[in-house]
Amino acid sequence: MNPGQRMVQRKRSHIRLADEQAAVLQSNDFDLVSLVRPALPETRVDQRILLTDLFGVPVSAPFFINAMTGGTNEATDINGALCRVARKTGIAMAFGSANIVSKDFSRLDGFLQARAENPDGPILVNVNPTTPVESVRLLIDRLKPVALQIHVNAVQEAVMPEGDRDFRWIDDIERLHHAVSVPVVVKEVGFGFDVASIGMLAQVGVNAVDVSGKGGTNFAVIENARSLAAGGSDFSYLQGIGASTVQSLLNARIVAQLINGHGSTSHIAHGVNEQEGTMPIVIASGGVRNPLDVLKCLAMGARWVGVSGRFLHVLLSDGEEALERLIESWKSQLAVLLALYGAKRLAAADRIDWTLEPRLESYLLQMRALCGLE
Ligand code: FNR
Repeated sequence: MNPGQRMVQRKRSHIRLADEQAAVLQSNDFDLVSLVRPALPETRVDQRILLTDLFGVPVSAPFFINAMTGGTNEATDINGALCRVARKTGIAMAFGSANIVSKDFSRLDGFLQARAENPDGPILVNVNPTTPVESVRLLIDRLKPVALQIHVNAVQEAVMPEGDRDFRWIDDIERLHHAVSVPVVVKEVGFGFDVASIGMLAQVGVNAVDVSGKGGTNFAVIENARSLAAGGSDFSYLQGIGASTVQSLLNARIVAQLINGHGSTSHIAHGVNEQEGTMPIVIASGGVRNPLDVLKCLAMGARWVGVSGRFLHVLLSDGEEALERLIESWKSQLAVLLALYGAKRLAAADRIDWTLEPRLESYLLQMRALCGLE
């Protein structure tokens, strides 16, 4: 098999295995967060309050279709379908990694073809930190994204036998951030973000961090299945690695507090305190299953919420129109939930109070202690 064929096969397995995982709605840390519901919310349902923007471009809801695939014929079909759904429902969507375009220019065509299904809607282009600047500029020039996503995926690379073994990325992220004219989002792929790494991004000054935590699609499991099938070594014990989306959102809150002057001398907080960083906008993804999970992310400080596995599964098993109907129902249900929890405006969602079950409460206390916060 040549490298091109291997890539086609890898992307196909990712889609198939992620689809299988998303077929079962797992319980995850969102179940350990409860929003405080007022019995007298003094609100009424109004779907118009969902209207918002993604980096200044209007969208119909604060959730979007997050990065999945690109660069093969199958990926082009999936992205084309997702682009049509995004156009009809008015939400944003991210293409999966377009790094392949830097190695094989002809692969740009598939992305352009999918883009043509939603030529004016807000999309995000996704690359890895080592994608050459020239290729990233070309992608931005041709695909006109509202922002650039740079994915960091150390666990996935580690479990992939053919994966990268060099995880030094912050300088590359900084270089790309300074080389492009659009906002930059740095995202995980399902293993979440810790305090120190969000602090590093704050210092670099990227516009947003998509924490993409544990709780949904699990690339340690996916890559391990591929590796074992090819006779590779067994990393199955890494299936629980990483911070959940909820834990990552708690970590982001700690970073915001450190940046806002709650100084600390702990080693984790050191880097965050030392230089004056700017807190990136927080995006949540990873294991989002329903509109209540979306609302929990917003209440915990996320500005936007990304969904991958769940939407992919509905698209592949029930088709494009079913996904469109699902997204419309998420929009109307999210409007109901906002009213139910007393939020008159979308921006007021972060004023909804929440409580944590003991396991998460204890995580938060331990992280705060590690960061020298009382
Ligand atoms: C992904 N994800 C992903 N992320 C990324 O930044 N670049 C990529 O190319 C891909 N590829 C990809 C393929 C497939 C099939 C899936 C399902 C996912 C990760 C994705 O954006 C997200 O971070 C995780 O999937 C966690 O979210 P969910 O799936 O739990 O909602």
